[in-house]
This record gives sequence, C-alpha cells and structure tokens, in this order.
Amino acid sequence: MNTHIRPLTPSDAPAYKALRDDMLRRAPTAFTSDHESSVALAASEFAPRLGAPASGLFFLGAFDAAGQLLGCVGCERAQRRKERHRATVLGMMVAPAAQRQGLARQLLAACIAAAERLPGLRQLDLTVTAGNDSAQRLYEEAGFRAWGRHPNAIVVDGVGYDKVHMLLPLPTLIRAAP
Ligand SMILES: CC(C)(COP(=O)(O)OP(=O)(O)OC[C@H]1O[C@@H](n2cnc3c(N)ncnc32)[C@H](O)[C@@H]1OP(=O)(O)O)[C@@H](O)C(=O)NCCC(=O)NCCS
Repeated sequence: MNTHIRPLTPSDAPAYKALRDDMLRRAPTAFTSDHESSVALAASEFAPRLGAPASGLFFLGAFDAAGQLLGCVGCERAQRRKERHRATVLGMMVAPAAQRQGLARQLLAACIAAAERLPGLRQLDLTVTAGNDSAQRLYEEAGFRAWGRHPNAIVVDGVGYDKVHMLLPLPTLIRAAP
C-alpha cells in the first residue's frame, strides 16, 4: 500500500476523531478512553492536542495516497522537571481495513525516531491491555519491555482488565550506579 506518515495538525481533527471514535467502539478494552464520552465531543475539541508539539504532545498519522487517515499514534511528554526525560506513547490505532500491513510498525518506528530527536528525552513508556497480544508483540519487537502489571487498571462493562506497563530506554539514557 502506498502510504506516508506525517505529524497530525489541527486541520486533521475531523479525520482523527472519526478514526478514534470508530476504534474506541471496535476495541473498547484496548483504550482507556471510552467511546460514549468520545462521540459526544466536537471534532474541534481535538484540534488543540493536534497542534501542541511545543508542549511535548504530538501525533503521527499514516495516510493513503488519497489522503485518508488510516492509523495514528501519539506521544506525550511528562512536564515536571524530574520527569521530563519520559514520554508516553498512546492512542496507537490502525483502521481494520489497513491492519496487518505493517502500518503500526511504521508508526511506532516514526514515533520513536521523533522522540529521540527531542532534547533530553530518554525513555518512552506505554501501557497495553493484558491479552492484547498483537499490540504487546508490536511493542516488544520495537524494543519495549514489560516491567509490571497494573491489576484491574480499567473496567469495561463491569469487567476488570489489567494493563501491562512497558518501557523503552532511548540510547541517551544514563542510569544511576546501583
Ligand atoms: C494493534 C494494531 C495497532 C496493529 O496495527 P497493524 O497495522 O495491523 O500492525 P502491523 O501490521 O504493523 O503488525 C501487526 C501484525 O500484522 C502482521 N503483519 C505485518 N505485515 C504483514 C503483512 N504484510 N502480511 C501479513 N501480516 C502482516 C505482523 O506480523 C503482526 O502480526 P501479529 O499480530 O501476529 O504480531 C491494530 O491491530 C489496532 O489498531 N488494534 C486495535 C487498537 C489497539 O489494540 N491499539 C493498541 C493499543 S495499546
């Protein structure tokens, strides 16, 4: 498939919301946000988060040749001084018709490359719902490793789901001596 990846901007808000709403409905246990709250929001409410790279939040989108948004991933940097070396990868999603073609892998690689360019950023964190094996494998293949499990981190339709916490140290990370 002829696709390209670029940062999302506020003008992508309607396409981003449409993809997000659809994926929250299809995969309710994969995300912490819920579909009902999301559909109630106007597309314009998503615009600020798509235009905030200076605040440490960016989203990347994968587009087909016609310019249709097929998938996206976000990255949000912690703001407090002692945590600014960390950012969280979030909102990874690929539309069903575009899945299993390597798009998530490309989005994740582009996200890691963009994060590595941010001065002082030394570690990427993320969570994945336990049992979402293809997503966890995707992250493991990119170098993330699981370090813990949060029991009942989310409840969907009355059922608790654990979240696996994963991290990827960037090459610039300097560790304290043991
Ligand atoms: C998880 C998700 C993002 C993966 O997206 P994707 O674009 O299908 O991922 P990729 O194509 O890069 O790789 C996924 C799988 O397709 C396989 N694949 C990649 N290219 C392929 C190809 N050309 N032919 C066949 N399989 C292929 C990969 O080996 C991988 O297989 P696996 O699931 O057995 O590990 C997508 O399934 C999704 O949006 N799921 C719902 C939301 C979700 O779970 N998000 C993650 C939240 S943490």
